[in-house]
Amino acid sequence: MLKLNINGRSLSVDADNDTPLLWVIREQLQMTGTKFGCGAGLCGACTVHVNGEAVRSCQTLAGDVANKKITTIEGLSPKGDHPLQKAWIAEQVPQCGYCQSGQIMQAASLLAANPNPSKDEVVAHMDGNLCRCMTYSRIQKAIMRAASEMRTASNGNERSAT
Ligand code: FES
Ligand code: FES
Repeated sequence: MLKLNINGRSLSVDADNDTPLLWVIREQLQMTGTKFGCGAGLCGACTVHVNGEAVRSCQTLAGDVANKKITTIEGLSPKGDHPLQKAWIAEQVPQCGYCQSGQIMQAASLLAANPNPSKDEVVAHMDGNLCRCMTYSRIQKAIMRAASEMRTASNGNERSAT
């Protein structure tokens, strides 16, 4: 048995140390928001956070993250209202939708580290997340929108604290 901390919950799973984290998340825990794309670290559909960093869960061994904080798309925001999720709706980003949870998780790791990214920084950070429906320009717009909203909210919080 392995103990994993996923979305703030400590969960025991019947998995070997060398089971890919993606399999544990989807097959054992039935958290299907994280997608299987290539299974080879090439597409980003399986992106989750480990201690706040975006990682490819198909290339991450469950045993290597046993003592770390794992976040999936289901845990990004308790009510599904992370600024990126709201911006995704406002910009009507998804087409088939398959790659989108990975795109959002990848983008969330950027905005957590850099709340004011340039367009080039967004493009560079998102470079490994593929979308066969070619929604790239809407993804970039949504990330810029979410970043702007996060900065506005944080400025408002600072003003109300003074
Ligand atoms: S499924 Fe993991 S990178 Fe494609
Ligand atoms: S929306 Fe279809 S693969 Fe990205």
